[in-house]
Amino acid sequence: MKQWLPSTGQKYRETVLKKDKTLLGPRAIAVASGKGGVGKTSISVNLVLCLAIMGNKVTLFDADLGLANAEVMLGLIPPYSLYEVLYGDMTLEDIAVDGPLGIRVISGGSGLLEMANLDRTRRQRLLRMFSQYNNQDEIIMIDASAGINKNVLGFVAAAEEVIIVVTPEPTSLTDAYALIKILANFKLHAEVGVVVNRAGDRREAMRTMGRISNATGRFLDIKLNFLGWIPEDKLVSQAIKSQQPFILSNPNSPASKSIAGIAEYLAEGTRSVPKEGFWSKIMGLFG
Ligand SMILES: Nc1ncnc2c1ncn2[C@@H]1O[C@H](COP(=O)(O)OP(=O)(O)O)[C@@H](O)[C@H]1O
Ligand SMILES: [Mg+2]
Repeated sequence: MKQWLPSTGQKYRETVLKKDKTLLGPRAIAVASGKGGVGKTSISVNLVLCLAIMGNKVTLFDADLGLANAEVMLGLIPPYSLYEVLYGDMTLEDIAVDGPLGIRVISGGSGLLEMANLDRTRRQRLLRMFSQYNNQDEIIMIDASAGINKNVLGFVAAAEEVIIVVTPEPTSLTDAYALIKILANFKLHAEVGVVVNRAGDRREAMRTMGRISNATGRFLDIKLNFLGWIPEDKLVSQAIKSQQPFILSNPNSPASKSIAGIAEYLAEGTRSVPKEGFWSKIMGLFG
């Protein structure tokens, strides 16, 4: 069996603290990619709704600062965004709004140029507030921006788990490799999940996963877990146009079934306690 295929019952994270999950605050899962436009926001939005359907309390944190799309895909118009947190005195709890199925949504703000390149003080403040965000949620899903700038790396490094979205396009793979390489070299994550989006069929998805897995396996010390693949499907873009997530409008579509598979896999996962000095390391590297 290929190294990246999750074996049955394999835990996504090492179990360290099983008993009292609340001690750790919400479990943060970042959805990231090397290249833009690969489907991070569509996947985050539908995954969060699926986790809510499964009974989890979830917050969707739109960390694509200044280019927030998650709220648009959900048909929401939040009155405040991270802008008011970063440039005003509101807290994350203040700006979070209710979305469908009881999810909470933190808007990344849109059309705000200064958000795309935060200065050091604001980046640190945001990371600190993120680390302290502690409502009663079980999961906080971060829709990160593409690429390898400090804004995104801070979140990806700080999250307990990372899902990298790739498509079969060669540029998506090389950019994903660049991102995974940083995570591996800074020893930020021992493993990452991979979702192959926009595949023509299962074979293409597996070939794509094989390519990225071969490259990382040869050169990097990091484990890849294949979380699933989503077909190229008009439905996904139609859902965006109608601002009605496909998991709600077409729950039996292949894309929805795939999202459900990923959500089940995540729901099985267990928590691990951040090592001592974790936050100062993150602040030092990416703050
Ligand atoms: N599985 C898919 N099938 C067809 N089109 C898709 C699929 N996933 C994403 N897209 C298209 O790609 C575009 C970018 O998706 P989005 O979720 O906004 O990506 P990102 O957040 O990574 O920039 C969307 O407008 C959508 O039309
Ligand atoms: Mg996006």
